[in-house]
Amino acid sequence: MENQEKKVMLSGIKPSGDLTLGSYLGAIKNWGARSEEFDCYYFMADMHAITVRHDPAALRRRTLEQLAQYIACGLDPEKNTLFVQSHVHQHAELAWVLNCYAMFGELSRMTQFKDKSAKNAENINGGLFTYPCLMAADILLYQPDVVPVGEDQKQHVELTRNIVQRFNGIYGDVFKMPEPYVAKVGARIMNLVDPKSKMSKSDDTNTGRVLLMDDPAVIMKQFKRAITDSDTERCVRYDPEEKPGVANLMQIYAATTGKSFDEIEKEFDGQGYGKFKPAVGEAVVEMLRPIQEEARRIMADKAYLEGVYRAGAEKAEYIANKTLRKVYKKVGFLPR
Ligand code: TRP
Repeated sequence: MENQEKKVMLSGIKPSGDLTLGSYLGAIKNWGARSEEFDCYYFMADMHAITVRHDPAALRRRTLEQLAQYIACGLDPEKNTLFVQSHVHQHAELAWVLNCYAMFGELSRMTQFKDKSAKNAENINGGLFTYPCLMAADILLYQPDVVPVGEDQKQHVELTRNIVQRFNGIYGDVFKMPEPYVAKVGARIMNLVDPKSKMSKSDDTNTGRVLLMDDPAVIMKQFKRAITDSDTERCVRYDPEEKPGVANLMQIYAATTGKSFDEIEKEFDGQGYGKFKPAVGEAVVEMLRPIQEEARRIMADKAYLEGVYRAGAEKAEYIANKTLRKVYKKVGFLPR
């Protein structure tokens, strides 16, 4: 079968906040382009969203919206397997097994765990600590070749690789070794007023952030308020060290219009930042307009969405179950 020869690609996003411009440019846009080449699995990582205190109704709403937005961004459910993590119970089951092959020391060293436990000192729960084992299970169930992730998740894929090495070292070739893939352009869209930190969907404030579904007027306002830099030359030039704000806007403009940094520098030569910022805003508004319309249309069709996530879970479960059976057998669980 043709499918069995295709390489496998997998990724997920936690519905802990509304998708941002960064989620689109850094991830989903690139995923959509790969379905000819890869057998693709994309999921809503709802189980990952409960490691911090959250609102259940908002989680339910966002999980469905995220699916509608995935499709509106070009992930065709006929060509990609789209599913909700918690619908495929093998994720939780494999995560338990992998917990027993991940070391306390290596989990303690995860940057995200250290950051999140510093921010949530009153709720440093076990799930926050073993989150990377669930993520390793998400990945390994589908035996992917490539796992596209943001820079901040690369360490978790590295840990997954350590688990594979340890597990396969004991039991033979059970898991395929996954490769993280961090895209270069658009990989890290930064906050517009704090260009040293990522444009995060989980922040509580909307400062410096553009959501995929934001109104055009809101988007324009966010871009007009974007921090440029306090240098004296005040020209559009790509220099991420000295001018991180401008570099971020250039990244966004490049990813949105397909123009190179050279072309952008020429386009705004001698014009200062006053023209540049609204131009980036307008380009983003125009790019998002058809996506937003499509997402609203799909969101209104609940029966269609249900059909998509049911079919996705069924396809995912079939593959996930094969891997889990193999693992259970290897570790010595008595078959039922
Ligand atoms: N941890 C990822 C994030 O916070 C989401 C995620 C969960 C994921 N499981 C995954 C990404 C598996 C890639 C592969 O964005």
